[in-house]
Amino acid sequence: MSTILHIDASIRAASNPNPNHNSISKNIAHHFIQTWKTRYTIDEYIYRDVGINPPPFITQEWIGAAFTPEQNRTAQQHDILKLSDQLIAEIVAADLIIISSPMYNYGMPAQLKAWFDQIARVNKTFDFDLARGDFPLQPTLSGKTLLIITSSGEFGFEQGGIRAQMSHLVPHLHTVSKYLGVDKIYEIASEYQEFADDRHRQSVANAYAKAEQLALELGQELELTIEANAAALS
Ligand SMILES: Cc1cc2nc3c(=O)[nH]c(=O)nc-3n(C[C@H](O)[C@H](O)[C@H](O)COP(=O)(O)O)c2cc1C
Repeated sequence: MSTILHIDASIRAASNPNPNHNSISKNIAHHFIQTWKTRYTIDEYIYRDVGINPPPFITQEWIGAAFTPEQNRTAQQHDILKLSDQLIAEIVAADLIIISSPMYNYGMPAQLKAWFDQIARVNKTFDFDLARGDFPLQPTLSGKTLLIITSSGEFGFEQGGIRAQMSHLVPHLHTVSKYLGVDKIYEIASEYQEFADDRHRQSVANAYAKAEQLALELGQELELTIEANAAALS
C-alpha cells in the first residue's frame, strides 16, 4: 500500500489563462506524479494546496489545547485541534511526502509555515523530555521520504552559491522535516525565474528531467520496500 502526501504551496495556480503566470513548482511536482503513474501505482494520494487554501494560523487557544492532555480537553479544545489532527493523520499515513514551494522573501510562504505550525504537535509529531539534556525535543515519526521541489526568481542558493547566505527556504524545510518523520530527503530546484533567459529555461528543463528520474527511482524503491514488508509479515 503506497501513500503519497502532496503539499503544494505556491499562491499561483498550476494553470492560468496566461501561462506565464503558471506556478513552476506546482507543475514540476505534478510532472513527478504523472511520471510516477506511468509505471507505479499510488494506492492513496492525498493532495493539499496550502498556497490557495492555507490552514489558519495557530493561536494561544490552539497552544493551550495542544498542551492539555487529550483526556482532559474540552469539546472546544478538541474542535480547535481538529484540523491539526487531520493534517497529522495525513503525514502518518504517507510513505512519500512531496512539498513543492516557491521562495518568497528568501524563505517559505507563510501559508506553508502555517501548515508546519499546525503539524508540529507535542506527543503527536514530537515529544519533549528535559532528561535528554540540551536536545529535549525528539521526533516521534520515522521511515518516510521527503521530496522538496522549489522555484526561485534568483539563483545561487545552494551551499557555496552566491546567495547561500540568503537561503532560508530549503535549509528551513530540512530543519522542520523532523516533524514529518523523514529519513531521506531529495531536492529539485528551478531557479532564475526573474531573469526569464536561457539560464531559466535550462533550469526548468533540468528540474523536469530530475522529476522524471526521481519519480522512477523512488517509485521502484517504494514498491520494493512494500514487497519486502509484505514478505516479512507473511
Ligand atoms: C511575494 C514574492 C516574493 C518573492 N521572493 C523571492 C525571493 O526572495 N527570492 C527569489 O529568488 N525569488 C523570489 N520570488 C520569485 C519566486 O520565487 C518565483 O517567481 C517562483 O517561480 C515562484 O514559484 P511558483 O512559480 O511555483 O509560483 C518572489 C515572488 C513573490 C511573488
